[in-house]
Amino acid sequence: MTRLRRKSDTKEVLRELDALVVLDPKTYKGRWKEFFGNDHPIHVELGMGKGKFISEMSARNRNINFIGIDMYDELVRKASEKAVEIWGGKHGSHPDNLGLALCNIEYITEYFSEGEIERIYLNFSDPWPKKRHARRRLTHPRFAQNYLRLLNEKGEIHLKTDSLTLFEFSLNSFADMGLRMRNIALDLHQHEIASELVMTEYEQKFAGQGMNIYRCEVLTGETALAEHLRRLKQRVEDEANE
Ligand SMILES: C[S@@+](CC[C@H](N)C(=O)[O-])C[C@H]1O[C@@H](n2cnc3c(N)ncnc32)[C@H](O)[C@@H]1O
Repeated sequence: MTRLRRKSDTKEVLRELDALVVLDPKTYKGRWKEFFGNDHPIHVELGMGKGKFISEMSARNRNINFIGIDMYDELVRKASEKAVEIWGGKHGSHPDNLGLALCNIEYITEYFSEGEIERIYLNFSDPWPKKRHARRRLTHPRFAQNYLRLLNEKGEIHLKTDSLTLFEFSLNSFADMGLRMRNIALDLHQHEIASELVMTEYEQKFAGQGMNIYRCEVLTGETALAEHLRRLKQRVEDEANE
């Protein structure tokens, strides 16, 4: 990610946006429903960048609460501008089912309680292609174990990347943890499902250059897995009856 030039008033601007931006996310651990004022499911994008994906998702799915997190305040600022733009452009106006939080994923268990999240999106996470940097990949078991603690019984992780190295590593990492995966795509934009999904900034750039986008969904919660198996069984029965 190209470093954004730091503006001197960023913290001040973000403090003003306290209905949207959370600068001290530890205070909401176990209490995110108070931030949103309801107990709708919570979906979190880890490393939201400039925030196009999380803003569009929140505008499209009003019964889900979305939290975009990033460790750079300049990106949280950019994401807040994107949210306002998507919601109608009026300053201070944004979807009330969206929160943007300044967080370092290394410490994710300090910001969320066990079972507080229903879905995690990992979109175009830094691939850290060198083998000696593998521990920094956000799908390394040292991160993934934390995600499993925070996700609830309906929990899922949705991963999209342009990096074959990261994708291969992630599939192995999830498989080693005994997790079930579905909808694995090695060239997402050749699949029908792509037209239903919101694109991220990085995805627009890479797909526009003709690069393959890899995607998969990981079922982490017992209910998510049971529902998946039920649907599979139904599909097999329907096909047999055709
Ligand atoms: C390559 S960008 C992808 C941005 C966006 N998801 C997209 O698809 O357009 C990765 C993002 O992850 C953020 N990031 C990387 N490591 C992080 C960490 N430990 N905690 C929080 N954010 C992190 C970076 O700041 C960057 O914005």
